[in-house]
Amino acid sequence: MTGSPGRTATPRRYLMCEPRYFAVEYSINPWMNPDEPVSAELAVKEWTELADSFRRLGHRVETIRPVAGLPDMVFAANSGTVVHGRVLGARFRARQRTAEADHYRRWFLDHGYQDVVMPTAINEAEGDFAWTGEFLLAGTGFRTDPAAHGEAQEVLGVPVVSLQLMDPRYYHLDTALFVLQEASPTRPAHVAYYPEAFSPGSRRVLARLFPTAVIANEADAECLGLNGVSDGRNVVIPMEATHLAANLIAEGYEPTFVDIAELRKSGGGPKCCTLEIRD
Ligand code: ARG
Repeated sequence: MTGSPGRTATPRRYLMCEPRYFAVEYSINPWMNPDEPVSAELAVKEWTELADSFRRLGHRVETIRPVAGLPDMVFAANSGTVVHGRVLGARFRARQRTAEADHYRRWFLDHGYQDVVMPTAINEAEGDFAWTGEFLLAGTGFRTDPAAHGEAQEVLGVPVVSLQLMDPRYYHLDTALFVLQEASPTRPAHVAYYPEAFSPGSRRVLARLFPTAVIANEADAECLGLNGVSDGRNVVIPMEATHLAANLIAEGYEPTFVDIAELRKSGGGPKCCTLEIRD
């Protein structure tokens, strides 16, 4: 931890869905090739290891029951945005994923959340929304509709900053950016991102908002390294993201590596599997 501020972990609560019915039967992003074999068994193994990593780091993992015929339901992050105990659900762009939204809505209702709002605009939740502790970064370009950004601001009552995604491989904001440390009264949020995934204007916005961000390179992005989950100190990332990891260590973070080889065939990594419940 040379020359960088001390990093403090805060305990989190995550919602996850076992990939029991994992498959790549359709293609709705460039990572998905239905002709390439995938193994649900391997996906379950990777997912179990991810959940165990969170528990070892002291976090609470809640689970929702997987549903047969919904192979992408493992990507919990796409199904809800929870800030200050308010839940904004999802509305998927692809018809193959539409039904997932209601299963998650019911999970929240069954777990004491009275106030679950379902979006009217296409909204892939934490796939395209990242909470910085002060405001919500919101991606658009491939999945979430720009109208969903305004809706999120109204429903969640937090400021929203829109960002334009440009590269179809990085179709969700959470494949190109993640929050390393939320803002506190004494310091601004710290993020990592891959500038090339964003439009020139959005790159300028990011540079202005986060002058000390960890800047990722192509190798970091290509293994879905930006699909990380941080608790403010421990950062769970794909094991191939070694260049990113070195930069994180230099900034005082501690990487935890996970194998996501099977899940990545669907275009998802650690963050995609993890919906954060912020009460
Ligand atoms: N196959 C899924 C899809 O294309 C992957 C979603 C990954 N989730 C994420 N938060 N980026 O919708």
